[in-house]
Amino acid sequence: MRLDGKIACITGSARGLGYAMAVDMLKEGATVVINDIDEASVSGAVESLRSEGYSVYGYVANVINKKQVVGMMDYIMTTCGKIDILVNNAGGALRTPKKLEEITEDDWDLVLDVNLKGSFLCSQAAVAYMKENGGSIINLSSIGGRTASIVTGVSYAAAKGGVVAFTRRLAKEVGPYHIRVNAIAPGLVISGERLQETWDTMDDTEQTSVLDDIPLRRLGTIEDQAKVVTFLASDDSKYMTGAVLDVNGGRFMG
Ligand SMILES: NC(=O)c1ccc[n+]([C@@H]2O[C@H](COP(=O)([O-])OP(=O)(O)OC[C@H]3O[C@@H](n4cnc5c(N)ncnc54)[C@H](O)[C@@H]3O)[C@@H](O)[C@H]2O)c1
Repeated sequence: MRLDGKIACITGSARGLGYAMAVDMLKEGATVVINDIDEASVSGAVESLRSEGYSVYGYVANVINKKQVVGMMDYIMTTCGKIDILVNNAGGALRTPKKLEEITEDDWDLVLDVNLKGSFLCSQAAVAYMKENGGSIINLSSIGGRTASIVTGVSYAAAKGGVVAFTRRLAKEVGPYHIRVNAIAPGLVISGERLQETWDTMDDTEQTSVLDDIPLRRLGTIEDQAKVVTFLASDDSKYMTGAVLDVNGGRFMG
């Protein structure tokens, strides 16, 4: 039980990668606060995990709203007494277009805000409490922020590249407080119905060309990502900070 007694907050964790991270951390003994943007999905996830006997709380907050984010960290302190682990997972391309000429200013702002500003606001609010006992922050970059990828648009690439720079700079600043800050950069992971549909609509040639580009010859799973996040959250990585781990089957080697 590598996370016994630890309190973890995972943003955007009602489904997808975040939910898998919650399951993996719970199995390692952590108490997990599930955050997401809507009440129904948060309570659904909390109920389902509690029914399996896990120690779980839920908090609805939009990660780009400072007041709600500060309210969430205050709630965690009141309910759990501390915060040891923060995963800035909420994000994605958020159904915005990929082609430069189709991306509106609102699309750009949304993608940059949720992926990058959300990580800033949540880290700022959590660090205020982590300074006492130390902690571990894990940010979600992407292969799209590590190398030019046709799978994503420029807004997503800029946001996820920004997450890498944010991770390194924050790691330098908060290291003296024993707060570690690392990131993972997943390759394509079928994390839900939408990405499953995208994959299914590709013909055999397209799918083969994607897989041929991956030395391990398969797409990643949500559990592949969750295992690495748990490693970064645990003391097994206690001498690592400012690192970006490319969890992509070797598709991009940083
Ligand atoms: N799936 C992939 O292939 C892949 C690859 C690289 C990186 N990532 C990154 O991993 C993270 C999770 O991806 P996923 O595929 O599980 O996505 P997902 O869409 O399945 O889940 C994201 C969750 O974040 C929540 N969310 C969105 N905006 C929010 C906000 N403002 N405040 C709080 N919650 C919000 C959503 O409601 C959703 O539950 C994202 O940061 C994504 O960019 C995913």
